[in-house]
Amino acid sequence: MNYRHAYHAGNHADVLKHAVLARLMVHMAKKDKPFRVIDAHAGIGLYDLSGIEAGKTGEWEGGVGKLADPFDAEVEALLTPYREVIAALNPAGGLRHYPGSPELALRLMRPQDRLIANELHPQDAIALEREYLRDPRCDVTSMDAETCLKAKLPPPERRGLILIDPPYEVKNEAEKTVRMLGHGIRRFLQGVFVVWYPLKADATAETILAGIREIGLPGTLKVELRVREAFGAGGLAGSGLAILNAPWKLDRELEILVPALAQRLGLGNWGKGEVSWINKPT
Ligand SMILES: C[S@@+](CC[C@H](N)C(=O)[O-])C[C@H]1O[C@@H](n2cnc3c(N)ncnc32)[C@H](O)[C@@H]1O
Repeated sequence: MNYRHAYHAGNHADVLKHAVLARLMVHMAKKDKPFRVIDAHAGIGLYDLSGIEAGKTGEWEGGVGKLADPFDAEVEALLTPYREVIAALNPAGGLRHYPGSPELALRLMRPQDRLIANELHPQDAIALEREYLRDPRCDVTSMDAETCLKAKLPPPERRGLILIDPPYEVKNEAEKTVRMLGHGIRRFLQGVFVVWYPLKADATAETILAGIREIGLPGTLKVELRVREAFGAGGLAGSGLAILNAPWKLDRELEILVPALAQRLGLGNWGKGEVSWINKPT
């Protein structure tokens, strides 16, 4: 396992994923009934943007580093939960500490909600335990994501948000992602599943999207943010999220938020944000 998220924390893909995750948390908390977040690829939860890893790539400067200036009021209202978590982590102002998905989820959860933060990398799992096990709402596991979803679904609350955010660094990881999503949906049909995928000059996105079309669940939304042209060996040109059982009206929020983020984060005229239904709700 070579992938370490500390090199990429706060980049354009994290901005998309985390701004959307924050909106999803707001929707989940609309009903009093408790829910459970299962973060199947949790990373370490908190990142130091002044650290060696973030400094080596500087990726955050093209992501969260570009968000300092405010957007218009409608966009700012939608970004508020994401911005509030970042502000809480940087009480003296500035931007040094950046939240990963488990930190964001915990900070936007209520006392009755629960988080399972799962991370296969042994060192990262220890970092998660150190940071989060003291919160009684959080459990940390260190399993392969597919095994974790098999073991933990359906959640006892029967309400849940499942984040599938693999690094796609090993062969057939896109196929594995589709497979674990299919198993997950079969175990927990009403769960909100979020799958992150890269937009690159390869077939990963097509494989994921074809698999999701085949699963065929109504209410499956696709959100993509592209910052530049994709070219061979060119790395990440953007990223996408497929959201199964997308909450009501999330599509309209993201139609406002994602193009605004894309315009800000895109290079030259390349910034493009798109929201569309893979399968419309019934
Ligand atoms: C993109 S990062 C996660 C970032 C995190 N979700 C966030 O948004 O802050 C992917 C993580 O998955 C972990 N990972 C890789 N293969 C895994 C597997 N088979 N099962 C669980 N975790 C895995 C990596 O160690 C890495 O920390």
